[in-house]
Amino acid sequence: MQAIVLVGGEGTRLRPLTYGTPKPMVPIVNVPFLARTIERLYDAGIRDVIFPAGYMPEAIVEYFGDGSRFDMRITYVIEETPLGTAGALKNVAHHITGAFFVLNGDVLTSLDLRAMLAYHRAKGGLGTLHLIEVEDPSAFGCVVHDADGRIASFVETPPRGQEPTNAINAGTYLLEPAVLEAIPAGRNVSIERETFPALLADGRRLYAYTTQDYWIDLGRPEHYLAAHRDVLSGAMPLALEPGLSGAGAAALRGHPGVTLPVHAGEDVRVDASAKIGPNVVLGRGCSIGPRATVRDSVLWERVEVGAEASLDEAIVASGTSIGARAQVGRGSVIGHDVRVPAGAVLEPGSRVGAAGR
Ligand code: GDD
Ligand code: MG
Repeated sequence: MQAIVLVGGEGTRLRPLTYGTPKPMVPIVNVPFLARTIERLYDAGIRDVIFPAGYMPEAIVEYFGDGSRFDMRITYVIEETPLGTAGALKNVAHHITGAFFVLNGDVLTSLDLRAMLAYHRAKGGLGTLHLIEVEDPSAFGCVVHDADGRIASFVETPPRGQEPTNAINAGTYLLEPAVLEAIPAGRNVSIERETFPALLADGRRLYAYTTQDYWIDLGRPEHYLAAHRDVLSGAMPLALEPGLSGAGAAALRGHPGVTLPVHAGEDVRVDASAKIGPNVVLGRGCSIGPRATVRDSVLWERVEVGAEASLDEAIVASGTSIGARAQVGRGSVIGHDVRVPAGAVLEPGSRVGAAGR
């Protein structure tokens, strides 16, 4: 069985983080998100993975190489210009040998791929789509189906209040190779807006596989933070020690200023008078100065937080320093290698960091 993981998007909604790291390589509890996906594919028995990439592919290639480190075979196909979610599949069609999974490269879920495969075989359609029911479907692709699961229509990002259903396309498909024949070559094609509707218009059968799994699209800062809260609480199972976890946990055990859950990478330093947690992830080599406070935040590698600085619901990319007494307003996102000056006050929801970092 093969899997195609779509990793070519620019991750615009996660800027400035994605100026320095492509979205699939953004860490989830200190491990690149795509590595977590690869692990899930491995657990489902998949050893042959194709990455249609385009935006900052070097970072992906450098980490995964040919896949042998993960006991997988990984093939890269780089798009010169973005081909869209279906165009990217057409572009790798020559590597496809049978039915295949397609995964959006930004979805964190506990979906059981083997169970989905069994369902697909039982239904015998041309494709099976994983669906999730969400409270607000307006930002996603709504999928309407009958009682037998057969899909009737797709409505991408419907206006709020006009959603035909709460069931959305959750970004995992299992497709027969004949789907590739329905995709025109050599141009940008959206599978959600073009290919799936065209297949339905043609009378082909697509089925919905609806589950109650944990599911989140990481593509927005508030969802990225929510995913971390859910992993730390265990709502999204990722085999972490409950409470205090990570290679740097030992350094924080018994620390009076720690409120769990907290995850710490190697070589973190937290001053005895600092306060961290709950829901804090510190990447490798982070240091937190005297009387600083960090809560509900994710700090990538080598982030320095100066004395008496405060962060709340913040995401901070690698190599950045937050000056002494700086106040980082709730919901701020700070890119790579930024120097936030001592005493700075960042408004809530600030975005700091420029392209090219
Ligand atoms: N190779 C390649 N080329 N990959 C791409 C391209 C492209 O041109 N465009 C997007 N991708 C990848 C992105 O990197 C991401 O992993 C995936 O395709 C989906 O793109 P997003 O930009 O994240 O789409 P979305 O989140 O707005 O909507 C999609 O996902 C929702 C669920 O999370 C749609 O599939 C919706 O129907 C769905 O509900
Ligand atoms: Mg997305």
